[in-house]
Amino acid sequence: MKYTVIIPAAGMGSRMHMNYNKVFIRLGDTPVIRMTVEKFEKDPDCEAIHLAGRKGEIDILWGMLEGCAKVKGIHEGGRERQHSIHNVLKAMEPTGYVFVHDGARPFVSQATLDGLKASVALHQAAICGVKPKDTLKRISGDAVEETIDRTSVIAVHTPQAFEYDLLMQAYRHAAENDLSVTDDSMMVEALGKRVHVTASTYDNIKITTEEDLKVAESIVKKGSE
Ligand code: CTP
Ligand code: MG
Repeated sequence: MKYTVIIPAAGMGSRMHMNYNKVFIRLGDTPVIRMTVEKFEKDPDCEAIHLAGRKGEIDILWGMLEGCAKVKGIHEGGRERQHSIHNVLKAMEPTGYVFVHDGARPFVSQATLDGLKASVALHQAAICGVKPKDTLKRISGDAVEETIDRTSVIAVHTPQAFEYDLLMQAYRHAAENDLSVTDDSMMVEALGKRVHVTASTYDNIKITTEEDLKVAESIVKKGSE
């Protein structure tokens, strides 16, 4: 099953508190965004890679991705993640299957990619995640409302995988209805479409705050799962 991946990298990284985009941070010698892209360079089923970048950073991204043969376009991002991805969807060639993967998640495993491919081919929409390790409670202010059955929830990661036509329809619907979402699946769910869930790994973290950098360095040292 062949697919194209969209990698949004047009954020500010404001929660990292550096004065530059967090996807440019180097882990060892390699920028985070290059580590992320290389996961898809290595997957033989990935045919093309399209990124979103901030207007003034597109040349920097091309420089960091030198030699990554599958990178076909780096497109101007938008105000929120969902606008960045929509810009890429509108700019790229129509295709069969699309994966969407955060530029700030450099540790996705080949097994996770393989699981998503199998699932999206069957179900048109597939996301991945891990079981929460902590006990979860619903709260109101500082009071517990209830304990959530841990077996009925997952912590959601990317990639998320969709049939191209379905994802396009979901993005058009979200734009027309002014939906604000935190992942791509939410837009597909808003169409009433069933989304399937596959396994991710605990190493597949999104590098968001300074603490995540320490974890990321330790994953680089031990090798990701
Ligand atoms: N992203 C994007 N366009 C935006 C906002 C985010 O392409 N307008 C990308 C980021 O570059 C990142 C991914 O979406 O790779 C996940 O977003 P997040 O972790 O929130 O990154 P930032 O928005 O950069 O960080 P912050 O929210 O702390 O500013
Ligand atoms: Mg953000």
